Amino acid sequence: MTITPAIESGIDVQAVRRQFPVLSREVKEKPLVYLDNAATSQKPQLVIDALVNYYTHTNANIHRGIHTLAEEATAAFESTRDAVQQFIHATFREEIIFTRGTTEGINLVAYTWGRKNVQAGDEIVISAMEHHSNIVPWQILCEEKEAVLKVIPVNDSGELMMDEFKKLLSPKTKMVSVVHVSNSLGTVNPVKEIIDAAHKVGAVVLIDGAQSTVHLDIDVQEMDCDFFAFSAHKLYGPTGTGVLYGKKSLLEAMPVFHGGGEMIKEVTFKKTTYNELPYKFEGGTPNIADVVAFKASLDFINKIGKKKIRRHEEDLLKYATAQLQQIPGLKIIGTAKEKVSVISFIVDNIHPQDIGILLDNQGIAVRTGHHCTQPLMDRFGIPGTSRASFAVYNTAEEVDQLVNGLKKVIRILA
Ligand SMILES: Cc1ncc(COP(=O)(O)O)c(C=O)c1O
Repeated sequence: MTITPAIESGIDVQAVRRQFPVLSREVKEKPLVYLDNAATSQKPQLVIDALVNYYTHTNANIHRGIHTLAEEATAAFESTRDAVQQFIHATFREEIIFTRGTTEGINLVAYTWGRKNVQAGDEIVISAMEHHSNIVPWQILCEEKEAVLKVIPVNDSGELMMDEFKKLLSPKTKMVSVVHVSNSLGTVNPVKEIIDAAHKVGAVVLIDGAQSTVHLDIDVQEMDCDFFAFSAHKLYGPTGTGVLYGKKSLLEAMPVFHGGGEMIKEVTFKKTTYNELPYKFEGGTPNIADVVAFKASLDFINKIGKKKIRRHEEDLLKYATAQLQQIPGLKIIGTAKEKVSVISFIVDNIHPQDIGILLDNQGIAVRTGHHCTQPLMDRFGIPGTSRASFAVYNTAEEVDQLVNGLKKVIRILA
């Protein structure tokens, strides 16, 4: 029997849990223990209601209409932009571009900024712990432009080797694009140091904030990143929407991305002129309902407070790490000093997929596999891991269920 510690963040976790309808369902006739938050977090009733309300009472296309519904839809959509601006402390609201998510945000920069600014022989620096979304767009660009992709190595604890990073920088470096928080390891990277060093050689910096935005306070002005991309669905918000933040001067100088409605000022067959920011990068009808509901997820986070959420998740991380480390044959992959509540692990002689299936039989949802970071798995010489990732609604009792569940899996398979 494990002794469950009090989690002392000051959050009433049971009250929080009651806001998430899915958490009260059963899986395989067991209460659901949802520990796959790094893949996507669950949605509070507030967010679900915002979606239903939008379609029930407002639904209209935005920006172009003069009727009441169109005006209301536009106001709701644009109020999310204001909320995001405040959430990440951007200087201007037009620096917030709505995208389909992190992947689209990074591709937008690679296809527009990249094609304009990267030439043969230039270098782009990423790291060995990047998600495929922050590898493939740069590989495509490098191939097309005959540019060179350089990779910051990772040490055995799962931290970036900063001395090696600094050796990679030179006047040839045009872009440094790194993940703020690793989805596979939980490592929090020293982005301020990375950004300052990259700026000294004149490089532009993109931060992949897919995992960090939900856990850490984000201040893009203080960070001084040039671009910052994230997804709403990892922030208790809807799928299919996200944000690319870019410094206004950079966004203004960039060519357009998707051609079509909304992003134009005037179209003739001779020549098309383009809309101003942020609409210049928002061609076509956007995912209006999900952007509207995204604001409800930011309200949910702001109401509890990021500091309290972080404290709660840190407590869970500490407790889960200590408990898991006691399981014979289990090894945690990713032991950086600065981590968020993500724990990847392997168990001697048991395939991660088998762990995932047998945990699911007990109602426990974890992710298994390479987590879209195949080069990182290669770095550690493993095919994949099992990953438990914790959110504001998880409890120490759920950590106990994971630990006991794993012991059962090991008894069955080892
Ligand atoms: C670190 C990181 N970057 C990028 C992504 C891609 O995000 P999305 O699939 O929402 O575009 C993810 C998603 O898991 C991620 O964890």
